[in-house]
Amino acid sequence: MQQHYDQYTTEDHAVWQILFERQVKNLQGKACDLYLDKLEALAPALQAKAVPRFDDLNAVLLSATGWQIHVVPGLIPPADFFALLADRRFCSSTWLRTRAQLDYLEEPDMFHDIFGHVPLLMDTGYADMMQQIGELGVAAAHDPEKLDEIERLYWFTIEFGVLQRGDERQIYGAGILSSFGEAKEIVEPEAIIKPWDVKELMQTPFDKSMIQPYYYGLPDWETLPKVIAEIWHSTQVSV
Ligand SMILES: [Fe+2]
Repeated sequence: MQQHYDQYTTEDHAVWQILFERQVKNLQGKACDLYLDKLEALAPALQAKAVPRFDDLNAVLLSATGWQIHVVPGLIPPADFFALLADRRFCSSTWLRTRAQLDYLEEPDMFHDIFGHVPLLMDTGYADMMQQIGELGVAAAHDPEKLDEIERLYWFTIEFGVLQRGDERQIYGAGILSSFGEAKEIVEPEAIIKPWDVKELMQTPFDKSMIQPYYYGLPDWETLPKVIAEIWHSTQVSV
């Protein structure tokens, strides 16, 4: 599959611009510094003025970290998704929500996939960590229980993770980075941020159909790749 860029309408480009501009403004002081830096680094290929061309994004991304965007029609089975991550390919849809859907979607569109996920893939450490999560998923592909655990790890970090250092809270999960409402709510005192506990998190089911009732606060950037490498090591030992 590929992106058919000529098929985007003037309205699509206008919706992209609204989404992009209001979310960049919304994320100031809320998103983690690494995300905002890498969003800036992607600017040659990712801007407010038009729907991004995947060829342009891939050129920048490939030279930065060797990652590429892999076009999918929508959600794909977790085992396939993780196999692509292990190959440094990130799945993205090519369709964009309409003006009437600015704030609610049942399935991720390209604004979520690209704006939410791709900037952090410009960082070498993050990019390597994502590949390792993919490898964990591949290793668990034939064990439904283990695959559920890896999905939860991905969900509570890559999709809905926040960094919580003392009183300072910063978003790094793509599901929040791409959501206007959730990015606002997460910084409110009412948001429930559980202490980091990877064992608990991997045993905690999640519901994709609702706004997340709570999040896990990562204490620092070093912890996540370390934990993932440890899980990878324990997988190797137990084989
Ligand atoms: Fe996502």
